[in-house]
Amino acid sequence: MLEIKNLSSGYDGPDVLHNIDLEIAPGSLVAVIGANGAGKSTLLRTISSLIKSRSGSVAVDGKELTNSSPSSIVSHGISHVPEGRQVFATMTVAENLDLGAHGTSKHIAMERIDKVMEIFPALKERLTNPAGSLSGGQQQMLAIGRGLMAEPKYLLMDEPSLGLAPIVVQTIFGILPNLAKSGVGILLIEQNGQIALSVADKAVLLERGNITIRGTGQELLKNPEVIERYLGVGNSIGSDPEKQSVMSVRIRSALGSEDSALFQRAKSIVSLKG
Ligand SMILES: Nc1ncnc2c1ncn2[C@@H]1O[C@H](COP(=O)(O)OP(=O)(O)OP(=O)(O)O)[C@@H](O)[C@H]1O
Ligand SMILES: [Mg+2]
Repeated sequence: MLEIKNLSSGYDGPDVLHNIDLEIAPGSLVAVIGANGAGKSTLLRTISSLIKSRSGSVAVDGKELTNSSPSSIVSHGISHVPEGRQVFATMTVAENLDLGAHGTSKHIAMERIDKVMEIFPALKERLTNPAGSLSGGQQQMLAIGRGLMAEPKYLLMDEPSLGLAPIVVQTIFGILPNLAKSGVGILLIEQNGQIALSVADKAVLLERGNITIRGTGQELLKNPEVIERYLGVGNSIGSDPEKQSVMSVRIRSALGSEDSALFQRAKSIVSLKG
């Protein structure tokens, strides 16, 4: 269990995050949704120790990690996929992935790259290409893949949908429930509440650094306050809870189990190419 208790943090001025309590169980997907500037990235940065907490604690499986070094956070099984992907454009895809392996042997890194290729077959033919030549969606896959190279117990993802076309967003989000099912606990931060809630087991709304609403992903999708303030405006599905539910059922059933279409496709591509 990744346990965040009473966590507060900020930058030079007053606290940005206020007394955050959140638990991410292995194999579950927890979404944090909220507007621009709500403190979503600050939350991930504080968990990863990229900025220090001012109160509260972060613990993994009972081990206290509050304010330990960022590398120690990684070695305790937490990977952070940062906002804006931050892949190294002039390095190849394989080199970018290898950076995520954190000093494991070359042999193990190669095995892990193969696993990432099963999840993101679109990267397989691009392994020797510079990361900068990839599309936005492929770069996001690479950023997630790099996070997975550490074989994390918990994966923190900051706005993976940012700047991507809806169809690409669906592909990437389609993979997340299966990733969780494989045992990884996922903390997903999103401004795109609609899609995040569709795949989330549990979710919270973050407003001005405070958690104001909690529930399952489905509960938040149907919560009138959430709909009015975060889901209703400017998206293709609109605020109709029925349509939103249909959308999330569609996404879930498209993935569902291990013999889901997406996983079958990944496997068949890998076997064709391999
Ligand atoms: N490096 C920084 N130095 C000072 N203040 C910062 C810094 N980064 C963020 N902030 C402030 O902290 C608050 C929360 O920002 P944060 O980036 O966590 O929001 P967010 O929810 O991730 O927003 P977005 O959806 O735009 O990514 C904002 O008021 C922001 O101006
Ligand atoms: Mg952010």
